[in-house]
Amino acid sequence: MHRNPWFIGAALAALVAVLAALGLGQKGDAVTAARQPRAAPPYPEDVPSTGHVREFELVAAPTALPLLDGRSLEVWAYNGQVPGPTLRATQGDTVRVRFTNKLPQPTTIHWHGIRLPNGMDGVPGVTQPPIPPGGTFVYEFKLKDAGTFWFHPHLRGSEQVERGLFGVLIVEDREPGPFTRELVWVLDDWLLDASGQVDARFNTRSQLAHDGRWGQVSTVNGVAQPEVPLRPGERVRLRLVNVANGRVFAPSFDGLDAAVIAVDALATDRPLPASRLELAPGNRVDLDFTVPEALSEQRLEVVDRFTRRPFLLATLAVSGAAVRPPAVTAAASMPAPDLSSARARPPSETFRLNARRGGPFGIEWTINGEAFQHEGEHASAHHRVYRLPAHQWAKLRFVNESYRLHPMHVHGQFFRVVARDGTPVDEGHWRDTVLIGPRETVDVAMFPQDEGAWMLHCHIQEHAESGMMTLVDVRADGSP
Ligand code: C2O
Ligand code: CU
Repeated sequence: MHRNPWFIGAALAALVAVLAALGLGQKGDAVTAARQPRAAPPYPEDVPSTGHVREFELVAAPTALPLLDGRSLEVWAYNGQVPGPTLRATQGDTVRVRFTNKLPQPTTIHWHGIRLPNGMDGVPGVTQPPIPPGGTFVYEFKLKDAGTFWFHPHLRGSEQVERGLFGVLIVEDREPGPFTRELVWVLDDWLLDASGQVDARFNTRSQLAHDGRWGQVSTVNGVAQPEVPLRPGERVRLRLVNVANGRVFAPSFDGLDAAVIAVDALATDRPLPASRLELAPGNRVDLDFTVPEALSEQRLEVVDRFTRRPFLLATLAVSGAAVRPPAVTAAASMPAPDLSSARARPPSETFRLNARRGGPFGIEWTINGEAFQHEGEHASAHHRVYRLPAHQWAKLRFVNESYRLHPMHVHGQFFRVVARDGTPVDEGHWRDTVLIGPRETVDVAMFPQDEGAWMLHCHIQEHAESGMMTLVDVRADGSP
């Protein structure tokens, strides 16, 4: 039995598609269907509304906070916190966020991973004008998907995100999960200057020539190497979010039998092993584990192993009376999509990733030889736009012609990795951000549904800032 609304939605959508193909749908639909049959979507285009509107207030402003090792750090923060407040709502709710910019720079908020109307996507010069200092903007959208999302500025991200502007948006499933405890870990690193403050030199040549800005202090929720108390028997949902400008995290949870139950918000096809976790900038991973009673009064180290120099990220300290496990046993999963037609088709578009000398920073990162200039009101005016038909499978190919890392992100869409260097792959989950290794080619299958101009870019902030962004224009077949 699938107790998952996804399954019912997908089944209904498939039925509608069959009816339409048989000419049994509405008249207009049947005509369109005969000309260009809509493929059955791998997930529902929409979900029923709960009728609830969740209202939030966000203010971005400079402030000083006790962070890292407790020192006073000058940051830019949402609502005076780093990370910003965790916004919570339920799938099917509408969120309304009244935002005020008290920064010395224009900004916007982008809702990373959320499928929303294009005008709410927060891309300056594309979906909205930049919000000037002192300005306000109201973001409002319905939450179609449950899972772990985050939000951050989409203007001068290499500076604004690095200074502390990021927050988590959690969309709860309508059905309660099997967990007795939830943890949210925002992973970040900080590049500090000699005085111990955020280094104010952004987009340096060295950062551009490498994998962006990597700091010397890594933090979990703004704290270096925190100790996290847990009780034996607790069933934990740990939501990991990588908000760093450039650093890839690979936290290892040795000693815990942890399973990956969601990646980039969406539930995995089935619980997946958490043995080789990798979170590139932008990625989220949700883990499910039960604290073994045998670990009572013990400490467990969570070590990052992405680089050759492993380091301690956090310590889990288990103590106290054992917690009884909840009655529900399984976490939600999603049915695996049929990717065969997407796999079989040739790439709809190929994106070649490379760098060259030039541009405002001396080096510019390019997609198919173009560097995106994203400041100003009309960012997209002189730039190529890639068209993708809505309601059809598309295969996108990323060819990394460089020796650097590129976590490629597409706004408002989820996709599946179907091949790496020509070898078929099935990761068992959706993504919105995929890490492309040096000289690697990655094919992804995507099923665009929401129309509009969606950003496709590298999530290493310095690469994006120096040009590694473009737009995919999703349009229903036949629309101009
Ligand atoms: Cu978190 Cu355009 O991205
Ligand atoms: Cu990149």
